[in-house]
Amino acid sequence: MTDTPEEKKLPVHIGFIMDGNGRWAEEQGLKRTAGHKKGAEVARLVIEHAKKRGIKVVTMYAFSTENWKRPKAEVKTLLDIFRKYMNEDIKELQKQKVRVSFIGDREKFPADMVKRMNEIERETAAYTDFRVVLALNYGFRDDMIAAIKKIAVDILDRKYLISGINEDKVNEALSTHDTPYPDLIIRTSGEQRLSNFLMWESAYAELYFTPVYWPDFNEHDLDDAIEAYGRRNRRFGKVTI
Ligand code: IPE
Ligand code: IPE
Ligand code: MG
Repeated sequence: MTDTPEEKKLPVHIGFIMDGNGRWAEEQGLKRTAGHKKGAEVARLVIEHAKKRGIKVVTMYAFSTENWKRPKAEVKTLLDIFRKYMNEDIKELQKQKVRVSFIGDREKFPADMVKRMNEIERETAAYTDFRVVLALNYGFRDDMIAAIKKIAVDILDRKYLISGINEDKVNEALSTHDTPYPDLIIRTSGEQRLSNFLMWESAYAELYFTPVYWPDFNEHDLDDAIEAYGRRNRRFGKVTI
């Protein structure tokens, strides 16, 4: 690949807010769950394309802590889709030496899924080139509450003083502790909000919103987002010289 300006500024970590499955389906007279099924296929394609493009980490927001509030039947179908994804698609990714891990409280899922999640993490832990983090029952606020509790316990155990709490300590206590901050957050479907996704971690992420519904998102759309990222001027509060 040629060393074009945008190639020089490749994001290391991209977060995807995969939104619009329901509207995609409804607009075609299909059930919302048909959108989720297509969405899962797209997630696999996008992950593989990100790997091909030299991205190092992708975090896929698949199910939020608030998504339990949806109708029971939709939640059930989503769990069935995740289960199938773990048993089929992730097996394929494992063959391609992709490290796969999960963030979010997994204990709320059925025991067979929790077992499979732990197994996947164990089996892929040694792969270093490319990693996929699946956010399932993830919500930033819950993650932050859990982190505050961990820090409080450390203080009570006298591991460090209150004055020792700093950015690193907070990072270590969050479930995202072993991935770099995301450089780019892509949200599909035209909504322009974070919806409780990586809110501490994306403090300086570039945000990219596209009207494309997730089931229609493809390799070219990802290329467009990466190119747009390459044109951004990330200042981190400093002055560009
Ligand atoms: C994203 O698509 C998938 C999940 C949140 C699980 P939606 O289901 O939110 O689709 P819309 O936003 O209703 O179109
Ligand atoms: C965010 O989408 C969660 C995921 C993509 C998993 P939602 O569709 O749940 O978010 P809101 O309700 O539009 O904010
Ligand atoms: Mg939505």
